[in-house]
Amino acid sequence: MDTTLKISKIKDGTVIDHVPGGMAFKVLSILRVDDLHENSVSIGIRVPSGKMGQKDVIKVENRYLERVEVDKISFVAPEATISIVKNYNITEKYRVELPEKVIGFIRCINPNCISNAREPVSSEFKLVSRAPISIRCEYCERSMSEREILQNL
Ligand code: CTP
Ligand code: ZN
Repeated sequence: MDTTLKISKIKDGTVIDHVPGGMAFKVLSILRVDDLHENSVSIGIRVPSGKMGQKDVIKVENRYLERVEVDKISFVAPEATISIVKNYNITEKYRVELPEKVIGFIRCINPNCISNAREPVSSEFKLVSRAPISIRCEYCERSMSEREILQNL
């Protein structure tokens, strides 16, 4: 008896693999999957993985990710691999990478930060540490931990 859980291969689209167990929900919200009407999405939550013990896998059909989506995913799944599938073949495969500079998509946790005021100023952070993840605001110097980042993504 084959007891292995298999998620079907996709014909065209994007596979986000090696996501820490349970983090698929965060990835789905980054991709705003609830707003998608036509794309099929397959999700494996806490499936067995040789390397990670358990992992999540997200397969989105007929969709390719934008840079900002990949950057956001790097904060919830720093080890994730992204595979681009075309006609069942992987045409591109890469690891996500935490950006050294994070511009525009994380809200500074300091309510008094200029980037939170009604000014045309985008938030801007520098990556200070990868494990655990830590970033520092370029405007107010406030550091944000992994947990704070996930809440403000
Ligand atoms: N995949 C898919 N549909 C395809 C081809 C690949 O859904 N037509 C998925 C695979 O199921 C896997 C991911 O894309 O989750 C990467 O595929 P591949 O590199 O072939 O798998 P592995 O060698 O197992 O990858 P890794 O070593 O990165 O775990
Ligand atoms: Zn700030």
